[in-house]
Amino acid sequence: MDFNEVVLTRKSIRSFTDKQIPDDVLQEMFTASQVAPSFQNRQCWRYIVVKDIKKRRELALKSGLVGKVNFFIKEAPVIIVACADTSKSGTMNGQDYYLVDVAISFQQMMLAAWNNGIGSCWLAAFNENSVKKILDIPDKIRVVAMSPFGYPKEKTSLYSKAVKTFAGSKKRIELDKMIFQETWES
Ligand SMILES: Cc1cc2nc3c(=O)[nH]c(=O)nc-3n(C[C@H](O)[C@H](O)[C@H](O)COP(=O)(O)O)c2cc1C
Repeated sequence: MDFNEVVLTRKSIRSFTDKQIPDDVLQEMFTASQVAPSFQNRQCWRYIVVKDIKKRRELALKSGLVGKVNFFIKEAPVIIVACADTSKSGTMNGQDYYLVDVAISFQQMMLAAWNNGIGSCWLAAFNENSVKKILDIPDKIRVVAMSPFGYPKEKTSLYSKAVKTFAGSKKRIELDKMIFQETWES
């Protein structure tokens, strides 16, 4: 795919086939995340790659904020948990940049995945302490996000349709509401 196609066709995927992701594709995804810009180039991101079915099941069934909201992630052959070593980022104007660092890097990973036909879905609705417990993540590390990665099922699940409708996933703010010329426009 060319760049525009990758960016314009990307969407969150919530139903997956069990086809494995080849190692060279995973490598391409990690390289895309590795070269992301970051606060003072300190690269605070750390990724845990979870392929083991028992661990995936645990994450799917025991990490949700509300009930089994993340049950769908166990279908995917790989779950990647995006963490931050916050001591390797910084704060400016009262803003913590570890979130920005990890977000840029993880999004680059997701776009590289999509370029190879692999879907993902950024997840924030998890209980950080539960995820830490399941994956032995030290206290000082923050879990910023996680995502399933896998080949999209042709027929999307009812759950996927319901979330998309609930979140209004197809809607986007109009450009003239999002971009101001020269000064803030109210
Ligand atoms: C910070 C963030 C948190 C999100 N958390 C969740 C989540 O917990 N569960 C989920 O199913 N989708 C989650 N999403 C996906 C959004 O619902 C989705 O990106 C949005 O509806 C737009 O749809 P699209 O990604 O298909 O374009 C999250 C996305 C972001 C960027």
